[in-house]
Amino acid sequence: MSRRSVLIGTGSALPVRAVSNAQLAEQVDTSDEWIVERTGIRNRYIAGEGETTGTLAAGAARAAMEAAGVEPKGIDLIVLATATPDQTFPATATWVQNELGCNGGIAFDVAAVCSGFLYAVGVADSMLRSGMANRAIVIGAETFSRILDWEDRGTCVLFGDGAGAIVLEARDSDDPQAPGILATKLHADGAHNQLLYVDGGVSTTGTAGKLRMKGKEVFRHAVNNLSSVLGEVLDEVGLVATDIDWLVPHQANARILDATAKKLNLPASKVVITVDRHANTSAASVPLALDAAVRDGRIKPGQLVMLEAMGGGFTWGASLIRI
Ligand code: UT7
Repeated sequence: MSRRSVLIGTGSALPVRAVSNAQLAEQVDTSDEWIVERTGIRNRYIAGEGETTGTLAAGAARAAMEAAGVEPKGIDLIVLATATPDQTFPATATWVQNELGCNGGIAFDVAAVCSGFLYAVGVADSMLRSGMANRAIVIGAETFSRILDWEDRGTCVLFGDGAGAIVLEARDSDDPQAPGILATKLHADGAHNQLLYVDGGVSTTGTAGKLRMKGKEVFRHAVNNLSSVLGEVLDEVGLVATDIDWLVPHQANARILDATAKKLNLPASKVVITVDRHANTSAASVPLALDAAVRDGRIKPGQLVMLEAMGGGFTWGASLIRI
């Protein structure tokens, strides 16, 4: 018998206010044409008063628990991926735990920026398989609008706010075709800090700071790192790219999604794309896209779903799940 983490529910939450490219162009020197052509983004959601990383995370977690048919008492682990926590401490996960009424289990945040959800899945899966916990909520939640420099058109048009969540349950099975997380691979290379970072922090400037990015260079690294980690995951389980039913990538730029799919020889019809609706929501983007494709019926039980992301650090990773 082997113990596996099985995905039993997904959920998501978005701020109330949607902002189109045309609306953004009223405040920033940009245009709908430029944003659509260079990124594929048409719309993003921006958190308003009272909407925080914590409230969005709790909304996504509630929806995932409802989809899974799980009561708060049944959750003994919450891992929340975010680069925009509500407070420096305690972890936003502990606030979410109290909101949901899951008090008493394990709750902590993971910081790996856009790859945060992949890191959180890797950590939660290890803890479930080791027996430290039995049922986990894994959340990616961000309010990047609050660390954007709204004077920098090269970055402020690219990001949005939101949250996505999944419920994972540890189950024993002998069947190699049983649902569950099959493999996760994670990487980091701290040499690239200055290509994507925030120019503030508690122990340096004492401020939250603003996001800075050298987009072109990040783009180049993203396509190479993503195709390489996807290959690693497939090798680990002895599968090839054409075995994948759905690729659910980090939604940074439609051109990165196209280039990565092409490198793997995956048809575009197998790639879940939400960057047009949500823009880049950092750690929230993969679970938001996953939830969209589960709820609209594209992702079905028995299918093989590959999640992947790359972001600040650099950090990157991929995870293969049988639904
Ligand atoms: O989530 C973490 C991972 N992040 C990413 O994966 C982001 C990766 N990078 C990218 O997605 C792209 O590099 C960007 C979308 C950020 C930029 O696209 P690009 O094709 O690399 O454009 P660029 O930065 O080289 O800028 C091209 C031109 C420049 O003008 P000049 O110098 O050619 O006259 C910019 O000033 O576009 C100009 N520009 C804009 N124009 C209108 C930059 N931002 C804008 C804008 N509106 N918002």
